[in-house]
Amino acid sequence: MASPEVVGTNNLGSSLPVINVQHLASQNLKYIPPRYVRPEFECEEILDDDSIQIPVIDMSKLVIGQLGYDDELQNLHLACKDWGFFQLVNHAGTEIIEKMKVVTEQFFNLPLEEKMEWAQPAGDIEGYGQVFVFSEDQKLDWADMFFLYLLPVSLRKMRLWPEKPSSFRSTLHEYSKEMHKISMSLFRSIEINLGVEAGNLSSLFDKDCKQGIRLNYYPPCNHANKVIGITPHSDAVGLTLLVQVNDVQGLQIKKNDKWLPIKPARGAIIVNIGDMIEIMSNGEYSSIEHRAVVNHEFERISVATFHMPDLATVLGPLPELVHDNQPKFINMGIEEFLRLNLQNTLDGKRLLNEMKMTY
Ligand code: OGA
Ligand code: NI
Repeated sequence: MASPEVVGTNNLGSSLPVINVQHLASQNLKYIPPRYVRPEFECEEILDDDSIQIPVIDMSKLVIGQLGYDDELQNLHLACKDWGFFQLVNHAGTEIIEKMKVVTEQFFNLPLEEKMEWAQPAGDIEGYGQVFVFSEDQKLDWADMFFLYLLPVSLRKMRLWPEKPSSFRSTLHEYSKEMHKISMSLFRSIEINLGVEAGNLSSLFDKDCKQGIRLNYYPPCNHANKVIGITPHSDAVGLTLLVQVNDVQGLQIKKNDKWLPIKPARGAIIVNIGDMIEIMSNGEYSSIEHRAVVNHEFERISVATFHMPDLATVLGPLPELVHDNQPKFINMGIEEFLRLNLQNTLDGKRLLNEMKMTY
């Protein structure tokens, strides 16, 4: 039988190897290597106003028949439409999320040689390393990451799933199930809010869901304002569910051309609309550019789980949402869309903009 590595088409892109940033940062550098210095971000304005924060959605109310359901559904609609980002509270899965945080932190705290057992192989984007790196002189993010596809189960590359700590794999398996369940509940509510017939949107993310996970490790940097943890981008997926592992903040979203720092409530999941929902909703909802900045004293760890349809799906505005025969985006296969995304450096919403129709 063929090994799981060669079954299916899971190799959508590759990235050049880069040095380990956690190790680099541990050397108490006097100066930052030029590849990490990003003066273009230093002058961008931060929206530092505590009264402005992304909406909070109470998941316990998003159940048909529940007291407050209609209002919360409307809150969700406005959160998706006006913000593209929200915090989800009172959700299920608290226990497994806490376990996932623990094993993620334990993994990144292993000695480098041990972590390298699960290093990204050449020509792949899964494993421990970095993505979106295509040339030796490209600027780099001040971070290491671990990327894996979790669903469909048949395409899992178990060889790249860490076995340290020993509960990592079983925790990740449970975490995958829980995040998928939460995302499905959100896709169903989103479908109602968009006025789409039941199943026409949500079923694309159900049994055939493609789910990926990205564990982000941002080491501290004594010149934190000279580097960037993750370059501004929108997520090329349907929905992203992001969990902060420790209490160090760093996520910022673009709001009115300024960067708004996100301050998640403890235990909240940060949810954001990805490019695929912007396209399917024919622009009713928008994916929002975001980035992560680095702390000068403390490491920051986050776990982002991405949900997208099966590769064979054609991505395009849902016919029910195309009015006056004017789709705002061209149709494209999900596989091609993901390949194009993974073949280019991160650059805001470039790919989505290239898919816009002009009339
Ligand atoms: C991502 C991402 C932000 C963060 O992984 O796509 O945007 O706060 N992460 O780590
Ligand atoms: Ni992102």
